[in-house]
Amino acid sequence: MAAPMTKLWKTWVATINPLLRICRQKGYSYRCYSFAKQSIARMLETSPIQDNVKVKGWVRAIRGHRDVIFLHVSDGSCVKPLQVVADPSLCGSDVTYGCCVLVEGCLIESSHPGQTVEVAAHRLQVLGSCDPVEFPFKARKKHSADYIRMYPHLRPRTNTFSSLLRIRSQATSAFHKYFQENGFCQVHTPILTSSDCEGAGEVFHVEPANSHLTQAVQEDSESNHFFKCPTYLNVSGQLHLEAIIGGLTRVYTFGPTFRAENSRGRHHLCEFYMIEAELAFTDSLEDIMQVMEEMVRTTTQTVMASAQEEVQYYLQNTGAEKHRETVEAMTTKQFKRITYTEAISILKSKKNFQFKVEWGADLQKEHERWLTQHLGDVPVFVTDFPAQLKPFYTKLNTDNKTVAAVDLLVPGVGELIGGSLREDSYDALHSRLEAAGEHDMYDWYLDLRKYGSAPHGGFGLGFERYLQYLLGTGNIRDVIPFPRSPGSCKL
Ligand code: 4AD
Repeated sequence: MAAPMTKLWKTWVATINPLLRICRQKGYSYRCYSFAKQSIARMLETSPIQDNVKVKGWVRAIRGHRDVIFLHVSDGSCVKPLQVVADPSLCGSDVTYGCCVLVEGCLIESSHPGQTVEVAAHRLQVLGSCDPVEFPFKARKKHSADYIRMYPHLRPRTNTFSSLLRIRSQATSAFHKYFQENGFCQVHTPILTSSDCEGAGEVFHVEPANSHLTQAVQEDSESNHFFKCPTYLNVSGQLHLEAIIGGLTRVYTFGPTFRAENSRGRHHLCEFYMIEAELAFTDSLEDIMQVMEEMVRTTTQTVMASAQEEVQYYLQNTGAEKHRETVEAMTTKQFKRITYTEAISILKSKKNFQFKVEWGADLQKEHERWLTQHLGDVPVFVTDFPAQLKPFYTKLNTDNKTVAAVDLLVPGVGELIGGSLREDSYDALHSRLEAAGEHDMYDWYLDLRKYGSAPHGGFGLGFERYLQYLLGTGNIRDVIPFPRSPGSCKL
């Protein structure tokens, strides 16, 4: 008996090994390959093969006739659902809108003009039922964004939000592609840190929930902190990137960032994703702005091309059909450049403008949005801000009043990117930190200026604000899977 079993095993291995080798060459794990092979996205691209297929997904629409039932099944792999045609005898009362199903059937050519293939079912099994009365989302009903936002744990089941998640994923890849193709090295900056990079005090404090742990790790009783110093969730990875460009020249990071800002505004979150880049060997803000402009332009073009259908669907469903043309037009125009001082004089020259502003004050959202509109509905770089408005690390201009900082403002959103040249003089930085009584805490940061300091600069882009700009989404909570804001961190 042993001999035939060994032969059978050898035959099986001989068959499966080449397949696994192809998977490895294509960079798929076997599980991933088998999912991709069976995903609805793949099936919709396949010419009808009159073959047996298995479809697993969620019912997004049902149309019943006396002798046939049409189901739209989606597995989240693409925006289009797969039509399943079933005999009513296959569908029990538990086949409802929202339920999770396994369908076995034949992939055949569809006579419907909207799709090339459909599945003629011969078996339909409900894997997870869904009470359509209790389920917050109703078939054929258009729910408002405010309503959908009330169910962050269930909204991936809506077509609009699952579409947003796929666009978000494509945009993530597009940013990585831009940096990887332009000589930037990705670095993972820490989430736990002892520095408040922006110096605004908007940090979340981190200590173990169990205070016994803190006591246990302390050899002495001088400190009552787990890490022997106050520790926070990072507000920006910039200072750590600055340490790394001391050896790597061009780096970037893309990760979560935390701000204890007491704002429930449409452009603020307590946890958001930031893309930050840092470049050594530049003492010109223009160099930094060129990277910012090229990155926004290239990434936007990549997403618009790679997720064309998805973006179209999302915009149609959020009532922003025209937004695509607006964004595409913006990427073909040169971004404008004005100084902060020019921005203030433009704002002051506008008679009867209700949002008054004086030199020295920060620009508010209303100012930012009005400026981009006034200057031709294009992204606008505002440079050279008063020193008191920007953090301690920003390089002072020769006028001793302003700093080499830049904000990129975009229509509909306002500030999308903040960047600057960094102070690279040890003495200038030391005296600034000493005046603030913080030079001891930043001794490591001062070291960067002590040992082979290079002129450098960089920027940070709020990823959710970018998605708002790309998709014309009014509320930032609608472009992140699980939004966190003051008073709201339920799941
Ligand atoms: O202007 P910010 O505070 O700049 C920095 O943190 C720099 N250290 C970045 C750097 O130079 N490496 O933040 C950068 C961007 C803003 O322009 C904005 O798009 C986004 O981060 N941002 C927020 N997005 C959502 N919610 C918030 N509370 C945000 N605060 C800033």
